[in-house]
Amino acid sequence: MTDLSAFIAGLPKAELHMHIEGSLEPELMFSLAQRNGVEIPFNSVEEVRAAYSFSNLQDFLDIYYKGADVLRTEEDFRDLAAAYFDRAAADSVTHAEIFFDPQTHTDRGIAFDTVMEGLIAGMDTARERHGITSKLILCFLRHLSEEAAFATLRQAEPWLDRIEAVGLDSSEVGHPPSKFARVFAAAAERGLKRVAHAGEEGPPEYVHEALDILHVDRLDHGNRSLEDPALVARLAREQMTLTVCPLSNLKLCVVGAMDDHPIDRMLREGLRATINSDDPAYFGGYINANYRAAAEGRVLSREDLVTLARNSFLGSFLSEEEKAAQIARLDAYAGNSSPRT
Ligand code: HPA
Ligand code: ZN
Repeated sequence: MTDLSAFIAGLPKAELHMHIEGSLEPELMFSLAQRNGVEIPFNSVEEVRAAYSFSNLQDFLDIYYKGADVLRTEEDFRDLAAAYFDRAAADSVTHAEIFFDPQTHTDRGIAFDTVMEGLIAGMDTARERHGITSKLILCFLRHLSEEAAFATLRQAEPWLDRIEAVGLDSSEVGHPPSKFARVFAAAAERGLKRVAHAGEEGPPEYVHEALDILHVDRLDHGNRSLEDPALVARLAREQMTLTVCPLSNLKLCVVGAMDDHPIDRMLREGLRATINSDDPAYFGGYINANYRAAAEGRVLSREDLVTLARNSFLGSFLSEEEKAAQIARLDAYAGNSSPRT
């Protein structure tokens, strides 16, 4: 292990952009298919991995929604979440705010409560096993209607004390944030925080809409903001957190090569960027693999890596007190592992 990978390995960090359905490893997909008697269109784990070659977001989503079909019972959701937290803990994640897509499940006849009970059981196990704290972000599928999002918000009503925020994911182009203006306002009235995927494939205008119409507390991806200098200045001025996902960007062809990834430029422009894994089972790595991929072949210093980790706590929905405690732990780590010169 290089000095830098060892430093990343132990660096305390929060993960703020990870879809729990995207952490379904092919091995677990097969065992759940067997447990539930579900047919999947693959004969082996190798065949599944070989199918993970995407040229854009939609290519990925088509296969991601198919994979989720093996998730049927509370136990399945618990096992999925517990497996993610085991991997996250091994990467020194101390806090995670995870997305889930209830419509992907309720549209297949799985009860909203089954999903919630399973995920919460996995989160509780993670806290006991690893001391990891976590929060849930309910994402609306933007290729579906706002009316369908409202129906999901109604199903979430009994669970609002266990849901921190709403988010917006799935096919971006053609489904601008403004389509969900009213349901995001309703979520805000219920005390939920708001995040949205914007500027992954969609234009900077979608980022403006996420800020001005959805009033997001955090922006997921946001890469294409860089095309609009006034927007960059605003994001920097407002210290809006961007949840950036380097390996996802590479696999979904948002960037042509990791060398072209703008994470370093984001930091130089004063943006509050963070590093996250998005859909780790599909994009080739968990959060530390994303830190390493971003750090390799570019000028990211240890100080930059600490800034990225600090940003992850600052941008989280932890209380000010909890943030301070997490950052104190990070600073102690950074102070104790100064590079040997
Ligand atoms: N973008 C949009 N929708 C998604 C993603 C993503 O990166 N991952 C899972 N759903
Ligand atoms: Zn995402």
